[in-house]
Amino acid sequence: MTEENRTDTPIEGVWSGLKGRPRSLNPKWFYDACGSALFDAITHQPEYYLTRCEREILEHQGADVARWIGPDMVLAELGPGNGEKAVLLLRQLRRLSAYVPIDISPASLEAAVDGIRQALPGIRVEALCRDFAEGVDWPQYLTSEPRCLAFFGSTIGNMEPKAAVRWLARLRARLRPGEKILLGVDLKKDPQLLHAAYNDAAGVTAAFNLNALSHLNHAIGTDFNPDWFIHQAGYNPDQGRVEMYLQATCDQVVHVGQHVLRLERGERIHTENSYKYTLEELLRLTESAGFATDRVWLDRQRWFSLHGLRA
Ligand SMILES: C[S@@+](CC[C@H](N)C(=O)[O-])C[C@H]1O[C@@H](n2cnc3c(N)ncnc32)[C@H](O)[C@@H]1O
Repeated sequence: MTEENRTDTPIEGVWSGLKGRPRSLNPKWFYDACGSALFDAITHQPEYYLTRCEREILEHQGADVARWIGPDMVLAELGPGNGEKAVLLLRQLRRLSAYVPIDISPASLEAAVDGIRQALPGIRVEALCRDFAEGVDWPQYLTSEPRCLAFFGSTIGNMEPKAAVRWLARLRARLRPGEKILLGVDLKKDPQLLHAAYNDAAGVTAAFNLNALSHLNHAIGTDFNPDWFIHQAGYNPDQGRVEMYLQATCDQVVHVGQHVLRLERGERIHTENSYKYTLEELLRLTESAGFATDRVWLDRQRWFSLHGLRA
């Protein structure tokens, strides 16, 4: 999907992004144990409406969503975070065959599994620690029942729209006709609300963004000094996305394996895009990937949408 996904080793993957223009990091580097805990804290910030709106949909319309999913399904969730949305949904589902959280972060997986086991002890849980960017290889033991994939939190917005179409089309190719995806998508809205959501007053999103550098230091031995960067996030209306960066506050040299990264004061590393869509744009995107839209659920403010897609 990105250069980073196509290269062989993590160091070379990171370097291919950092040496490019614009310099970039794959957002998957946000998620070590500390990053997962920080994301969890972001979802509790008053400015971060996304989680509240999606939770509202599941709380008030969850029974309808569950009817659409149907009984005896395997529900696989991509990037469950702490799994709280799955708990809301699974409470409404009848005769679930299995819940399969799939996440790159072992800490997230553990939180999701613990959350489900505590809230719904009878449910069969099969956790998979995987990079979902590479598609979903269904283990043999999960292919006999009908399947529904859940992808909450507007994480799809972190992909370039064309990459999202390709990725969804690859997922679709591995589903049987009639199998489903439940897709949570943040909608275009007042840019001030979007700006605030990624610049919370408590500085939690800033800490989350900066933590990617500490994660790289631990995971692949880079020597970033997170204190020499500041968080930047803003809505780009032409592109329809919130862009997030880490900006160097001084000239500096960083080692990435054998490579040397020279950053000047003011230079930025792009860490994430969060694309926002209109309902029509999202309909076109999912149609291009070969999905039919059965249902769309919205929160009361119409800020967030949940799309019931059929392969
Ligand atoms: C933005 S959070 C969303 C969490 C949760 N779904 C929610 O709605 O609050 C993204 C989640 O996806 C996981 N994740 C991010 N990139 C991933 C990747 N490439 N492969 C697997 N999991 C990934 C993160 O660990 C995290 O749990």
